[in-house]
Amino acid sequence: MKTKLFRPGLCLGAGLALLLAGGCDTRTPDAAPTPPASTPADAALTCAQQPEGTNYAIYPQCADGTAVGDVMPYYDAASNTTYTYFLKDIWNDATTKRHPWYGFKTSNFYGYSDLAAGEQLSCSAPTCAPDFAIGTGSVTLRNGTYYAYYTGFNPNTGSCTNPKEGVMLATATGLGQPFTKSTSFGTLYAPAGQNFDSNDNFRDPFVYFDAGTGQYSLLVAARQSVSGVWRGIIARYTSTNLTSWTYQGRLYDGGSTNFFMMECPQLFKLGSTYYLLFSDMDSKNVYYRKSASLAGPWSAPAGNARFDGPGFYGAKVITDKFGDSYIQAWLHRRAGATDTGAWQWGGNLVTHKLYQLANGDLALTMPHTLKSYLEATTPAFTKSSQWGNVTNTIPNTESYQLVSTANNDVANVLYDPINRTRFKISATVSYTSAGKDFGFLLGACDGYNQFYSLRFVPGQNRFSLDFTNRTNLTSTTVATADVPFPLQPNTDYTVDIVQENSVVVVYLNNVAALTARIYKAPKTSWGVFVDNSTATFKNIVVKAP
Ligand SMILES: *[C@@H]1O[C@H](CO)[C@@H](O)[C@H](O)[C@H]1NC(C)=O
Ligand SMILES: *[C@@H]1O[C@H](CO)[C@@H](O)[C@H](O)[C@H]1NC(C)=O
Ligand SMILES: *[C@@H]1O[C@H](CO)[C@@H](O)[C@H](O)[C@H]1NC(C)=O
Ligand SMILES: *[C@@H]1O[C@H](CO)[C@@H](O)[C@H](O)[C@H]1NC(C)=O
Ligand SMILES: *[C@@H]1O[C@H](CO)[C@@H](O)[C@H](O)[C@H]1NC(C)=O
Ligand SMILES: *[C@@H]1O[C@H](CO)[C@@H](O)[C@H](O)[C@H]1NC(C)=O
Ligand SMILES: *[C@@H]1O[C@H](CO)[C@@H](O)[C@H](O)[C@H]1NC(C)=O
Ligand SMILES: *[C@@H]1O[C@H](CO)[C@@H](O)[C@H](O)[C@H]1NC(C)=O
Repeated sequence: MKTKLFRPGLCLGAGLALLLAGGCDTRTPDAAPTPPASTPADAALTCAQQPEGTNYAIYPQCADGTAVGDVMPYYDAASNTTYTYFLKDIWNDATTKRHPWYGFKTSNFYGYSDLAAGEQLSCSAPTCAPDFAIGTGSVTLRNGTYYAYYTGFNPNTGSCTNPKEGVMLATATGLGQPFTKSTSFGTLYAPAGQNFDSNDNFRDPFVYFDAGTGQYSLLVAARQSVSGVWRGIIARYTSTNLTSWTYQGRLYDGGSTNFFMMECPQLFKLGSTYYLLFSDMDSKNVYYRKSASLAGPWSAPAGNARFDGPGFYGAKVITDKFGDSYIQAWLHRRAGATDTGAWQWGGNLVTHKLYQLANGDLALTMPHTLKSYLEATTPAFTKSSQWGNVTNTIPNTESYQLVSTANNDVANVLYDPINRTRFKISATVSYTSAGKDFGFLLGACDGYNQFYSLRFVPGQNRFSLDFTNRTNLTSTTVATADVPFPLQPNTDYTVDIVQENSVVVVYLNNVAALTARIYKAPKTSWGVFVDNSTATFKNIVVKAP
């Protein structure tokens, strides 16, 4: 009713008391708004989903449009190039390939090319071949040979005798050259007599070389009965020559959390700290543990439990010769390419820069090369309306203080859609009080209820994406995606929202990210809002390549 019955021009800048006195708004606080007939002002808002684009560059899919699954990045120092092998989302299609490895290469994290040879590691055709389908692995260079340890996956367990999952080896003599399967390496299955799930769940090998000991570690995601309780665990093997492996027991069992599977485990070292990274199959969140020793004990971060949400899965880290680290993962799709569709495996490759905080916790920011690329131009954008107690704080800039003193009494500034495939919105955000929440809105059909929120929730110290209509949002609404983000009043937080078609990546104060699939994001009305809060959005700026 508010933005509809009473146009901004009528009540602009008026607070709730004036609104009530002036008869502009007769709602009681918290009442669900009753949408009235549409008005010219609302007709100007664009919230219909646009067709999903296929022209991805900074968050690539395969050149033929196929989705990208689990990633296995390898950094080549000689060419300063990252080769990202990945599982291509093909399964029993016309080519009868099942998750073969393909790859991208990049030297800047905003332009990628498909590896020219195409398929890098293929599945085997015989029904009972242990690698009837291919799973995730890792690539390690030793003495001129690239060792690709990978998951052999055979779903035909009813008719075949071998277990469903095992660790296999293929090698190549150059990056981008397809791997040749080893005929001498015996498939590694879950160790017998150690209470492992011997039929399934033994996958995602990762090889780590410890320069200190000259020893290789092979990590495998598995399930094991530990003291009578089944848990997702990370098993460890060691080797000195990458061909013969000795089982060394569990590297990690999840500690106080019983994970079903800690998929895609990775071990890496920054400075003197070892990090163990893994993807929780249930929540789809990426977690990490840290330790002063490869042998553990492994402790959770001192601060935030994680640095991104469930849209960033199967993550792996590389560190380049300049000491910069990057973390890559894939963002899921949804069925039918709509926001109401079911979650789907595979999607687009997303890369963040990763660094250590003083306490050894890990933090994320935008790759510096991507940032420079995105900041080449400053396209004009158009304010379409504002509502409620809104004050421009810096003349000639899009800088506003927004005040709302009651739940659901949303104050906002709305902007016309940005007619670009890829761009970045940035602002500096702070608040003085927050009874409910504040943030950015996308896909706005109106300015007070029917929009997607990218919202700061100080009461819960998190940043949340919610597709849920505003008046249906409660303190227990399950977020579409969220990330822990402690908040304090009177503190500036930088926000960078990078969009490419339906891929939306939000960077929060250069420490955390929220990667999300939002099919309604492209070319819809957007803006900023407060709900029972007082917040300032300083220097809202759009940049584009
Ligand atoms: C807008 O909010 C400010 C800060 O709370 C307050 O001082 C001012 O009176 C409000 N304006 C109106 C018109 O209510
Ligand atoms: C190497 O690549 C990184 C980005 O991955 C870039 O920042 C750096 O400038 C490159 N260095 C050289 C010497 O090309
Ligand atoms: C490295 O490869 C060369 C050539 O194949 C071989 O002669 C040499 O023995 C290898 N060294 C090690 C440590 O395996
Ligand atoms: C690898 O090391 C193991 C144990 O040290 C040894 O038995 C094996 O022969 C080595 N294999 C190769 C190919 O060097
Ligand atoms: C968006 O941009 C394209 C070309 O870049 C143009 O053809 C189209 O008319 C624009 N749409 C709007 C609504 O401005
Ligand atoms: C605003 O939020 C505060 C804190 O949650 C709450 O106590 C208060 O009732 C809310 N005010 C209104 C008018 O809804
Ligand atoms: C959101 O609100 C609009 C208008 O009130 C309504 O038509 C729509 O069904 C709501 N959507 C959901 C998911 O509740
Ligand atoms: C709230 O959610 C219910 C159930 O999904 C839906 O029917 C209703 O339209 C929603 N209300 C608003 C105002 O969006």
